[in-house]
Amino acid sequence: MTTKLIEVNSVSKRFGNVVALKDVSAAAGAGEVTCILGDNGAGKSTLIKILCGLYQADSGEYRVDGELMDFSSPRDALEMGIATVYQDLAMVPLMSVWRNFFLGSEMQKGAPPAKRIDVAKSKDTVVDELGKMGIIIRDPEQPVGTLSGGERQSVAIARAVYLGARVLILDEPTAALGVKQAGVVLRYVVEAKKRGLGVILITHNPHHAYPVGDHFVILRRGEVYGDYRKEDIPLEQLVQMMAGGADLETLQHELEKAAESTGDQELAEVASEYGEEATELAEETAEAKERDGDA
Ligand SMILES: Nc1ncnc2c1ncn2[C@@H]1O[C@H](COP(=O)(O)OP(=O)(O)OP(=O)(O)O)[C@@H](O)[C@H]1O
Ligand SMILES: [Mg+2]
Repeated sequence: MTTKLIEVNSVSKRFGNVVALKDVSAAAGAGEVTCILGDNGAGKSTLIKILCGLYQADSGEYRVDGELMDFSSPRDALEMGIATVYQDLAMVPLMSVWRNFFLGSEMQKGAPPAKRIDVAKSKDTVVDELGKMGIIIRDPEQPVGTLSGGERQSVAIARAVYLGARVLILDEPTAALGVKQAGVVLRYVVEAKKRGLGVILITHNPHHAYPVGDHFVILRRGEVYGDYRKEDIPLEQLVQMMAGGADLETLQHELEKAAESTGDQELAEVASEYGEEATELAEETAEAKERDGDA
């Protein structure tokens, strides 16, 4: 078995009575995009907060390069090369693109006490680094607040790559973006992957996940509901798993018909599995509705 870049085994996390994660096992490799999918409240953010050192799991293992980790803060995770780009971003809107890019790690010149920021070199580096990711910035003095949401996400991704991240975690980077802007961000996700980073992309949109993802982990009510390599799951199935049980039932009936007419036993088994899943899903949905109705 190959060593995974980053993995969790049987991780659980609860907040009071709420079980946010239950026995979750998942892994992400280098040079690929792992998408974490799931509905609201599925546990996506909780999982990535554990990965980035913000939360500690109640039980289970967390490994990086096969080594057990016990992060007590995001700083610990960052030291292991695990960078997280949050949706609200740790950027200062009125500050220029280049100052935001470095945020304290600007290039210096001169010796103390005359040591100071090498503005020209820092700006050139930013333009260069962004350029390498295919991001063209007109003016590095431009305040970050004047960039579009997609451009801002892109700068944050380029920054993580430049600072030497090995794992890049993106929490819903495309949620607030239009189609075109989302496309731009997804392009940089692919760019980061090409540079060998392990990218973990959190989204509830299978249409954003599918084109860039190599691997899909679907969470539902805090548990892993599915874990597929792209070659093992067509987009339609991914959408279905996100959408709910009605489509699963249709699929079950179609498969049953096909199994009957061909006498294919395997197909019949798959159909009955889909049926069970659909029933389970329907029960869960009914439970959730009841609960929401009470609230
Ligand atoms: N700090 C917290 N205190 C109490 N409950 C929490 C806390 N964080 C998360 N939860 C609960 O844990 C469950 C999972 O939440 P989480 O934020 O991980 O979901 P999510 O998949 O990121 O959802 P969304 O798509 O809405 O962002 C939810 O029921 C949520 O209410
Ligand atoms: Mg979330």
